[in-house]
Amino acid sequence: MLLPAGVRIDGDSGSVTPSTGSYAKRLGDLAGLYRDKAAFEALVANGDPLAYEVIDYRWKDSDLAFGTTVMAPGKVGDEYFMTRGHFHERRECGETYYTQSGEGILLLQSRDGETRTVEMKPGICAFIPPDWAHRSINTGTNKLVFVWHCATDAGHEYGEILEKGMRKLVVERDGRPEVIDNPNFMR
Ligand code: F6R
Ligand code: ZN
Repeated sequence: MLLPAGVRIDGDSGSVTPSTGSYAKRLGDLAGLYRDKAAFEALVANGDPLAYEVIDYRWKDSDLAFGTTVMAPGKVGDEYFMTRGHFHERRECGETYYTQSGEGILLLQSRDGETRTVEMKPGICAFIPPDWAHRSINTGTNKLVFVWHCATDAGHEYGEILEKGMRKLVVERDGRPEVIDNPNFMR
């Protein structure tokens, strides 16, 4: 039987105690995500930095799961470090992203191609409706840490975003983040 629990989440480090699992993505695990291939290869060859870590509190017998994503600051060319981005396999499942520290942009894209952004900063809990692809982007100079919350069996569907990219990119222009059309987006 699952028992109630109080799980400590540190909003600065993103640690989850106790947690049930975690994984980390280094930049080299994210081939194909960034348009500046030369900058990408140079960073991978030069230490292959940690891009983000996901720590979860997830039990298969519970309908709810939560955890943290901890994103390093950085850029590949003019694009900020970002997550892969995904739809949920179960299309009826939404999610929330509650930012604890740092700053970023949550980029969302509906199944029929509408796009939206939601600012990520402490105090903002982003609502991700069902069947909107979501990618978080660390536009700051510190870690971006957020708590996510979704159905345990929501699942991840990465294929479409990986193959086609997202319609928008978040790039640095004159020292500021700017959302632009993705010139390489494949319809
Ligand atoms: C779960 C969720 C987050 C992300 C995590 C990494 O549904 O949205 O836990 O999985 O922020 O992003 P991806 O999975 O897109 O690499
Ligand atoms: Zn998700």
